[in-house]
This record gives sequence, structure tokens and C-alpha cells, in this order.
Amino acid sequence: MARELRLLVCPTDCTQCSRSALALAVDLDQRGFIHDAISTALHNRFLYRRDMANGSVVVLGIPIPSTNPVFLAIIGVHVLFGLAAVITGAAAMLSKKGRGRHSKFGTIYFWCLFGVFVTMSALSFMRWAENYHLFILGALSFASALFGRTAIQRRWHRWPRLHLTGMGASYIFMLTAFYVDNGKNLPLWRELPQIAFWFLPSVVGVPLILYALRRHPLVLELSRSLPSAS
Ligand code: HEM
Repeated sequence: MARELRLLVCPTDCTQCSRSALALAVDLDQRGFIHDAISTALHNRFLYRRDMANGSVVVLGIPIPSTNPVFLAIIGVHVLFGLAAVITGAAAMLSKKGRGRHSKFGTIYFWCLFGVFVTMSALSFMRWAENYHLFILGALSFASALFGRTAIQRRWHRWPRLHLTGMGASYIFMLTAFYVDNGKNLPLWRELPQIAFWFLPSVVGVPLILYALRRHPLVLELSRSLPSAS
């Protein structure tokens, strides 16, 4: 049976593969099956696929709503900053508080979040009508982190509480934005109703912050040793 590697364009006008072109080993004796072969190959392509009908690109199963190379490049940088912020933020929260590991991870978290803030602003302005809610969440996230960082740098009155609350809130806002945008594409998460993406990070995070404010030995100790304003 003759086989050949060719660049083919889907010959029919179906909405499934949207006339995308790709190289395929086709069975030259069975041209009738060319379309099926193209469709299957296209729809099995989970790692990267262009969906011309919707004007989007699918990367690792996550649809990115644009084929504009500038938008895609910014998304790439955005995801790197986002992942780094999630990891370093968690590391800062889980490490012993004070100068050292906690402050190093916290500083990296802050600057990664700044990277998320810059990239998400560009992405939001490029698709404002669809993304303005994400811009608001991102601005709240970065503003909270800036507040928490300034509180500790300037040693504001009751800075331990202000620092903890600001940094914790920034992490909650960041995760909320992430889930609101991507929850519908994540395994298991996509089974939840859309409204859960807005509230789940707060439902978990706010009690943790309140618990730390009331119970964390360092907050209590520092609060006792600081002079009271009243
Ligand atoms: C403050 C937090 C965040 C904000 C405000 C934000 C905002 C945005 C915006 C505006 C887009 C473009 C969406 C579109 O045009 O439809 C986007 C895309 C994306 N973001 Fe974020 N993001 C945040 C955090 C993160 C984090 C932490 C990650 C990864 C761990 C992440 C991963 C992604 C991915 C994979 C996309 C591409 C999917 C898509 O375009 O819908 N984001 N984000």
C-alpha cells in the first residue's frame, strides 16, 4: 500500500477541523479516508492545536482565545510568572516567619506577582470587554501585596497583622483570578459551578488568615511587644 507524507488541507467545510492544514501520512489508495484521518489527528492534538473556527489556540487542553502572536507571547510570560508566584507564595506562607527563607520567598513572590500584574494588564487591555473582571482581581491582588509589603518595610503600627492580611489577601485574589479564568478547563474543577471559582479561594483562605491573626504565636508576640496607639 503506497504511503506518502504530505501537507493537506481538509477538503470539506466541516466545523470540526476548520480546514486546518497539517502533515499526515496518508494512504494514497484510500483518499476517501483522508478527511477522517485529518479530523482525528487534529482533535487528538492536545498539546497544541489551532482552532480556526473560534480564533483560538489550545495548549495543554487550555483554550487561549486568540491566535495573535503578541497575545500568545504575553500569555507565555504571564503563565511563567503565575506559576512562580503560586509556588513562591506558598513557600513563603509555609516557611518559618522572619528574615531568611520566608523573606526571600516573599520577595520573589512579590516581584513575580508584579510580573503577573504587568502581563495581565496587557492581556486585559487587548480583550477588555471579556477580561475587565480579571483586571480588577489582578489590581486588587497586587494592591494587597503592595500594602502588606509596605506595612512591614515602614513598620506601620500593628504591622504583623497588616502584613499577614495584605499578603494573604493578595494570594486569595490571585487564585480567584486564576480559577475564574481557567477553572472551566481544569480536570475535576470543571465539574463545579462557575460561581464556585469566585468563592472557593476565599472560603479556604479567609478562615486561615483569621486563624493566623488570632492564634499565630509570632503575631501575638509582636503585637504584645509593640507600643499601642491608644
Ligand atoms: C492576579 C492573578 C491573575 C490575573 C489577574 C490573570 C489574568 C489573566 C488574563 C487577563 C488572561 C487573558 C484571558 C483572556 O484573554 O481570555 C489570563 C490568561 C491566562 N492565565 Fe492568568 N491571571 C492571573 C494569574 C494566573 C496564574 C497564577 C496562572 C498560572 C498558574 C495563570 C495562568 C493563565 C493561563 C494558562 C492563561 C491562558 C488561558 C486564557 O487565556 O484564558 N494566570 N490571565
